[in-house]
Amino acid sequence: MSEFQPIPKAYICNPLQHKTYLINGELREWTGAYDEVYSTISSTEVYAPTLVGSVPHLDKEQALEALEAAANAFGKGNGLWATMRVRDRIEILERFTEKMKTKRDEVMHLMMWEIGKTISESQKEFDRTIEYIYDTIEEYKKLDRDSAHFQKRDGVYAHIRRGPLGIVLCLGPYNYPLNEAFALLIPALLMGNTVIYKPPKYGVLLITPLLEIFKECFPKGVINIIFGRGREIATPIMETGRVDVLALIGNSRSAIALQDKHPHKNRLRLILGLEAKNPAIILPDADIELAVNECVTGALTFNGQRCTALKIIYVHNAIKEEFLSKFTERVDALPFGNPWELNVKLTPLPEPDKPQYIQDLIDDALNKGAKILNKKGGERSENFIFPAVLAPVTPDMRVYQEEQFGPVVPVRFFSDIEEVRQEIADSHYGQQVSLFGKDIYTLAPLIDNLVNLVCRVNLNSLCQRGPDVFPFTGRKDSAVGTLSVYDALRSFSIRTFVASKDNPYNNEILENLLKTGISNFVHNDYVL
Ligand code: G3H
Repeated sequence: MSEFQPIPKAYICNPLQHKTYLINGELREWTGAYDEVYSTISSTEVYAPTLVGSVPHLDKEQALEALEAAANAFGKGNGLWATMRVRDRIEILERFTEKMKTKRDEVMHLMMWEIGKTISESQKEFDRTIEYIYDTIEEYKKLDRDSAHFQKRDGVYAHIRRGPLGIVLCLGPYNYPLNEAFALLIPALLMGNTVIYKPPKYGVLLITPLLEIFKECFPKGVINIIFGRGREIATPIMETGRVDVLALIGNSRSAIALQDKHPHKNRLRLILGLEAKNPAIILPDADIELAVNECVTGALTFNGQRCTALKIIYVHNAIKEEFLSKFTERVDALPFGNPWELNVKLTPLPEPDKPQYIQDLIDDALNKGAKILNKKGGERSENFIFPAVLAPVTPDMRVYQEEQFGPVVPVRFFSDIEEVRQEIADSHYGQQVSLFGKDIYTLAPLIDNLVNLVCRVNLNSLCQRGPDVFPFTGRKDSAVGTLSVYDALRSFSIRTFVASKDNPYNNEILENLLKTGISNFVHNDYVL
């Protein structure tokens, strides 16, 4: 697919044997088995995966120790962290973030090797995460300011704040191993919960440069980071019934399997970002140039490994020739290479079996009547398969039904928009849609319907999560709960309050509490 390029000196991979895990404020050294972490990027001319390092392969015993540490830190709602003043929690998080910034290069280096994300996308992911933390802190201050007063109704004073939910088990995906994980961890921690975090299989080493900082900054047991297989360490934690929130970005199969292990389902809160198959709809009056640009980026940024990627394109019959000739040309022009290579757009797939999976989807579609429309579509190498633009795709094909999460672009044609509306309504997925067109009399009824089928209608642009202040959620199989800077703080907390009848006896107590400032809940000072 491309000539072998020796690895530039700055990006050479020196395997990182990571030996510790974080439990109860201690970095414990592991003496048991280790999991080796391989990159599908080759360091040698004759292809071979590269060893990037290893991480502890923990088991049930350490998982339950992590749970115990998180439970002790929460202290049945009386732990230091859960009862701490907002300003103190913010101070800790700010200190953590300052230190985290010093690890940018290390994290990015591992991100490129472990998951093959381009250097510019890796930089973006790190910087976006830092910005997310600062935005969350600002939002939290606002929340705190808005709750620093009493309300009165029917002779009752109420001091209402948001309180933590308890113990959070957090699992993130490999495609945004830093950003998606932190978009869960940060609001969960800031709201006073205690957390157990298990990083994904790919993109696991890149969290290790941050372990020491987590240990230094947070009180013991507030954040626990464990390594291993989900089945072996997340399952026993869930089985205890002591987890209050399952926060998971991944697929519904793992989410359901874990929920099912919890013996008290009504106690378990869920915050889930799951699979999606966002469609693009190209209407006959669309600006073709614009639609092509957005669809190429939307479908193939990070090789299509984004939950928000455009995973099926509906093109109106009247413009299909023009759209597809430009689209296929643009896809074939996307440069493939290693993540640090200049201007590279397509990179090695981190999952070794992904090229074959995509090949199977292509073969199934070809057998059922589709064609590969672009010259390079389906070209294989050891760690990649070039994106095939497949058309016409029909509902009986696997590529129509499954979330491909990789480089293949199914295209479907339509004459009547009603057919598309029906298909989106009947789909299992419900995250976002991209709508390309101009005529408001066509757009208006479509928008009015689509907003009730998905949770974001992107007008003449690709689907995406950002800016992170906007709500990120989905209907049907695509999500449970909403994540944005604003919503996540609310998803990881609950409204709780002190009520007091308006009489001299109670009022004196309240006044004294406010005067002395000795309660961390009943007080009226706030952080600016
Ligand atoms: O995989 C899901 C990511 O949250 C998508 O984020 O749309 O900003 O690439 P993005």
